[in-house]
Amino acid sequence: MNEMPMERAIRLARGFRPHPNPRVGAVVVDSLGNLVGEGAHERPGLPHAEVIALEAAGSRAAGSTVFVTLEPCNHSGRTGPCTAALINAGVERVVIGVLDPDEKVSGNGIAALKAAGVAVELDDSTEHLVDLDPGYFHHRRTGRPRFTLKAALTLDGQIAARDGTSQWITGEEARLDGHRLRAESDAVLVGAGTVLADDPRLDVRLAGYDGQQPRPIVIAGSRRLPEAARVLERNALVVSTKAGSQPGEELVVSPRSDGRPDLGVVAATLGEAGFVDVMIECGPTLAGEMWTAGLIDRGVWYLASKLAGGTGKNVFGRTFGTLSESREIEIIDIRKVGADLRVEFVMEG
Ligand SMILES: NC(=O)c1ccc[n+]([C@@H]2O[C@H](COP(=O)([O-])OP(=O)(O)OC[C@H]3O[C@@H](n4cnc5c(N)ncnc54)[C@H](OP(=O)(O)O)[C@@H]3O)[C@@H](O)[C@H]2O)c1
Repeated sequence: MNEMPMERAIRLARGFRPHPNPRVGAVVVDSLGNLVGEGAHERPGLPHAEVIALEAAGSRAAGSTVFVTLEPCNHSGRTGPCTAALINAGVERVVIGVLDPDEKVSGNGIAALKAAGVAVELDDSTEHLVDLDPGYFHHRRTGRPRFTLKAALTLDGQIAARDGTSQWITGEEARLDGHRLRAESDAVLVGAGTVLADDPRLDVRLAGYDGQQPRPIVIAGSRRLPEAARVLERNALVVSTKAGSQPGEELVVSPRSDGRPDLGVVAATLGEAGFVDVMIECGPTLAGEMWTAGLIDRGVWYLASKLAGGTGKNVFGRTFGTLSESREIEIIDIRKVGADLRVEFVMEG
């Protein structure tokens, strides 16, 4: 085995997005160092990674070491507890990548294994395992999805012209990268204004892609969405404040004083509904309100090799009154995609 077992488990886990469950991979290694089983959690309702790996190992699991990216669960959901599967298979040692932040697990998995005499080790070298599924950790810690604001802007900061035209600001490679981001998201969220201006499909359009499609979510306001909107053909979830006021499947939430959906309630409700990673691709009105509500966690912005040469529409449709209103970000990645620049950041604090 050239690859280290935990690295292999991470690679297996990366292949799937079983949200609202976490991405998990597991590898079973016998006492001679042979890989005798492996598995990943593919979808909610399907067996967990440890169970698949143990089944593959069969009787060779007895006396083995299991490397698993996330602390094994100790509760019964749609599947039985993984701790019991590990104990019953006679596993001698379990090496865990990171503790599960889910309150139903969080240390209980380790305690159950230890109580049954299984040696447990936390792999210090894999603290970065949070990066395997950052949305999951965010969701379990906050109860709401991790929101990533994607925007395509001219280098002088305009996402659309005054007349609303914005297709296309960036080049093809940046747009393809945007589709890859969608493929990693459970949902793509926009406001009614974007549906009315651009009639987007919000799907992943990549050659040969046959993976999960993100669900479109539209936050509707005072205007009724057109029945023919393309997102509705894609089973969009339409957030409204009054049942029956919008076409499509509605998610009714309480209104703010101006009658529009309360975004804090929207975030919590989406979290309860199991959305873990949500990409925001809205216009300036909703983006500004998400900013005010503190609901932007991460950004992936494409800065085009193009200048607008004037003020059209900015990312956030709100006034920047004084410097102290700005917020620090941590830029975690910058690269060129085609002729454009891709900047990825997370909000600080
Ligand atoms: N370059 C890019 O990356 C990009 C991406 C997306 C959009 N755009 C451009 O942005 C423009 C559309 O901008 P937009 O601001 O109208 O679109 P938006 O932000 O997507 O939608 C705003 C609308 O959402 C509704 N809404 C519901 N609840 C809300 C709340 N709590 N806070 C704020 N809004 C709420 C309101 O509809 P009601 O008015 O009916 O109440 C509001 O007018 C278009 O020109 C489009 O091309 C550019």
